[in-house]
Amino acid sequence: MFVALEGIDGSGKTTVSSGLRHKLENDGIKVYLTHEPTFNVEDIAGDLISRRDSESALKLFFMFTEDRYKHQAEISEKLDQGYLVLCDRYLYSSFAYQGSLLEGIFGTREKVVAWMSGVSEIIKVRPDINIYLDISADTAIKRIWNRRRITGFEDLQYLDRVRSYYTGVLRKHLIMMNGEDPVERIVGSIYDIIRR
Ligand code: TMP
Repeated sequence: MFVALEGIDGSGKTTVSSGLRHKLENDGIKVYLTHEPTFNVEDIAGDLISRRDSESALKLFFMFTEDRYKHQAEISEKLDQGYLVLCDRYLYSSFAYQGSLLEGIFGTREKVVAWMSGVSEIIKVRPDINIYLDISADTAIKRIWNRRRITGFEDLQYLDRVRSYYTGVLRKHLIMMNGEDPVERIVGSIYDIIRR
């Protein structure tokens, strides 16, 4: 089984995935935890990230898609070996983060998503379920400030736009969770979904 965890920065994906891993491993399930991007985004694309224009988003979309194209081979191998693969961010991170900046080129959200879906046809390994941890952009910024410095990806308005992709045009692909609930409750709910 392949499970992707999605959400805006600060939504708790990392904490939730390690809690989930622990719970599943206690049941004797082999879990492979992985993450996208597989590269350090600040080192490789720091300048592109800090710009909020459609051309930079286009480049980033191709970079993340190429990264995913390679990463899917590793995921597929782990699935074949009987692992449950938990991936912190996958396809819909690109759709939400880059899509929200590509409207300048395509005009409408629907056209952006249709184009991104076409390019992403090279991604053959797809999650069985995509979990989305929903938090407000306000909460995200507060949590991030408490943790570390703010990177180019993280400003209130932008995160709010990214969130509106997840909760709007992408909603039908996602299982929605309230990311403001206590971590144990979120982990328990996702665990129940996986077990079912
Ligand atoms: P992380 O904080 O989860 O490690 O992710 C790094 C940043 O990369 C995060 O702000 C979201 C961004 N990102 C995209 O914009 N598009 C993508 O496709 C992926 C995988 C990540």
